[in-house]
Amino acid sequence: MEPSLEQRIEEAIRNPQNLGEMEGADAVGTVGSPDCGDMLRMWVKFREQDGKKVIDRATFQSFGCQTAIAVASVATELIAGKTIEEAMAMSGQELAAPLGALPPMKIHCAQLVEGALRSALAPEQAQAAAPAPAAEGIPSPTLFDQLSQGQSNQGKVKIVLKKDSTIQP
Ligand code: FES
Repeated sequence: MEPSLEQRIEEAIRNPQNLGEMEGADAVGTVGSPDCGDMLRMWVKFREQDGKKVIDRATFQSFGCQTAIAVASVATELIAGKTIEEAMAMSGQELAAPLGALPPMKIHCAQLVEGALRSALAPEQAQAAAPAPAAEGIPSPTLFDQLSQGQSNQGKVKIVLKKDSTIQP
């Protein structure tokens, strides 16, 4: 017989994976639930794989309910090996998927895990998306610079008048 949701949660709590603070983590995220006042913190370490930055491992600490602990336990296992974008795209329900579908009153427990993960990964994603800063001492040209440069090339500009087909000779 398939274990029930309660049995899977109990099993995850009896043997929680990746529980505890991580020394030397690359990213940390903490979130609190406005619904119940519970809190969850997640630490993430990255590694390079095939030229991509992927999650090497993640750990968590929970000041919350048993469902949040169970979801965090399975979620930290699920996200290992995923890129930041892949992990950021996962919903609370997806992170809790190994436990099975959560009842509506427990969905916010999975969202707590999702929130902590996003809080840890968002700065990494923003950093990766930010354009490289302009090299020092070489400011990017302003519109004025570009126009002045255009004026110095004036002699080389060839102006071609288009023949207006409506005007007959
Ligand atoms: Fe608040 Fe589960 S009851 S996180």
